[in-house]
Amino acid sequence: MTDSVLEGTAPPRGLTHVEPCASLTSENNDTWWRRAVIYQVYVRSFADGNGDGIGDLAGVRAHLPYLEELGVDAIWFTPWYVSPLADGGYDVADYRAIDPTFGSLEEAERLISEARALGIRTIVDIVPNHVSDQHPWFRAALASGPGSPERARFWFHPGRGASGDEMPNGWVSNFSGPTWTRTRNPDGTPGEWYLHLFSAQQPDLNWSHPEVRAEHEAILKFWLDRGVAGVRIDSAALLVKDPALPEVPPEPGPGQHPNTDRDELHEIYRRWRAVADSYPDSRILVGEIWLPDIERFAKYLRPDELHTAFNFDFLARPWDAASLKASIDSTLVAHAPVGAPATWVLSNHDVTRPVTRYGQADSAFAFATKRAGTPTDLALGRRRARAAALLCAALPGSLYIYQGEELGLDEVQDLPVHQLQDPMYLRSGGEDPGRDGCRVPLPWAGTCRPFGFSPTGATGEPWLQQPDRWAALTVEAQENDPNSMLALYGAMLRIRRSDPDLGDGGLRWLPSAADVLAFARGDGFLCITNFSGAPIGLPPGCSVLSTAEAKAPGAIHPALIDACGVRRIGPDVTITSAPRTAASASRAIVTSIPWRLWTPAAKAATRPGSGSYARIVARPGRTARSASTWNVPCTPQARIASTDDSGRARCRADTADAAAVRTPVIQVASITAMGTPVAGSLRMRRPVM
Ligand code: GLC
Ligand code: CA
Repeated sequence: MTDSVLEGTAPPRGLTHVEPCASLTSENNDTWWRRAVIYQVYVRSFADGNGDGIGDLAGVRAHLPYLEELGVDAIWFTPWYVSPLADGGYDVADYRAIDPTFGSLEEAERLISEARALGIRTIVDIVPNHVSDQHPWFRAALASGPGSPERARFWFHPGRGASGDEMPNGWVSNFSGPTWTRTRNPDGTPGEWYLHLFSAQQPDLNWSHPEVRAEHEAILKFWLDRGVAGVRIDSAALLVKDPALPEVPPEPGPGQHPNTDRDELHEIYRRWRAVADSYPDSRILVGEIWLPDIERFAKYLRPDELHTAFNFDFLARPWDAASLKASIDSTLVAHAPVGAPATWVLSNHDVTRPVTRYGQADSAFAFATKRAGTPTDLALGRRRARAAALLCAALPGSLYIYQGEELGLDEVQDLPVHQLQDPMYLRSGGEDPGRDGCRVPLPWAGTCRPFGFSPTGATGEPWLQQPDRWAALTVEAQENDPNSMLALYGAMLRIRRSDPDLGDGGLRWLPSAADVLAFARGDGFLCITNFSGAPIGLPPGCSVLSTAEAKAPGAIHPALIDACGVRRIGPDVTITSAPRTAASASRAIVTSIPWRLWTPAAKAATRPGSGSYARIVARPGRTARSASTWNVPCTPQARIASTDDSGRARCRADTADAAAVRTPVIQVASITAMGTPVAGSLRMRRPVM
């Protein structure tokens, strides 16, 4: 447990200072993407303009002012192309046309320019690994028969066994089940098999075929010509397959997996990068790359390949200080040599909403372990999600927000069964609850369904049923509540946008107890996240920028046991609790996690009479010698316990007076650093028992 971010004997864990390679970061003036806040719009569920119950481009256009007000730099649209929607649009039948359910190409062009006029860039989703089984290429391939040039663009293969009725290999689909489906010959007899790493409606393309490469480069140009600022590349590590189609070895070595992360991919993305770089302003490539090997992951981000990729390692971690810190460290270390900014992602249209995930006993994310009916404490999850949002916003790099995350929407786990349509659910026979629960239409206003998702007089219900409890989570309800998740996101993004120390850059870890993460950005911005189960204190004179629990600025309510703070500290002294001067303490963010994490051990350690103590840390060479006066209300018996030459002064306020512990304020009247008196005070708070 910990009382204060100051306390604890542990030295800073892991890396203390990570800066990206400067020579690689200054090559382009137009580096908006290095610190951008990118908002993901899942078009079907954002807003319905024409009242058929399905989100559309008219709905997005009508709500652009909302996104402007929220303060996002770019919108990433999930696929909006013509699609039978066998996989929510990731089964594309025409990459150059908008699905009529959503609107038209002309309307998409209008949307791109209207957003740009509001200062919001557009990123579109490109799906290169597979097409829809309704795509003209695949229809032609089926019609043309074995050995035809039309089939050469895909992975058609005869079956094994005498009658060819065994699949060509045993690869397992990302949506569970087989990756091969057998075709029928024109005469009705069983024919060849075709490969699909996802559903049978998504046949994989053969990326060794020059037409496949040329077509996707042309698609890329098609959208860049329409003014989009970049593309998100779906399943970016899967495109290339080992042509021998061998079985997946139990533990494939680097680059040895037959259908994932093959070395030939890099050449493809170098060509795409050349296309993007042929435009005068910065157009970016963002990879969807799920890879456990962070070094292999970073190879995609070399200066002549993709600009950024989603950081799923961080997303998948449980709410645990050591685990998240390990992920932050390995992320920054892997990105630094290639000069790419990290991305911070808490959710998207594929994963469990954070409010739900963080409220479960196992708060890690894994597709394989997702199960319906997992007990969930939404209040706990919501408070952790608030803390997580502030942590992510303070980390170096760019930030992704999935629609509804800013409203604190939870995963809808009780959708009517007849509405479930995600192939992950359908192909697993219901064992996997699927992803429909994170794709439910947004609640905008009003007290009953459709909560403003569709206009008055709509002819259709929202395509997935919103829960009644979302009445409290509408944009309208939250806009008027300063304590809402929406208010937190708005404040957070305003701070992030205006603060020069945030966004791109490095971070410096500050000494903290094992269950507290504390780091500085630039000279003065400090972020503290407390996972400990005990409240932590911030110094007076420090102006709080934002708190996960909207309590009085500058104070952490004793009932809160998780905090994240950001404030200015002096340029040359790292004192994690006391500012050098009152004036230098300018900013702070505080977040919280729930009281219920209190453990019996933590309670015992704070029993009346056990005293309180803190450690004050200065940078080496800037020795904080002592805290000269301690003032413990009721029993002014504080004393310096020890100091050392590395600048640490350990101060202890011993008291046998239970009242002193229950009035948990200890003040440091002055601190000396390098002989210069530093005005400031330290306040520590103990929980009221
Ligand atoms: C990506 C998408 C996911 C889709 C899959 C197949 O992982 O994010 O939604 O189902 O690719 O295209
Ligand atoms: Ca509609």
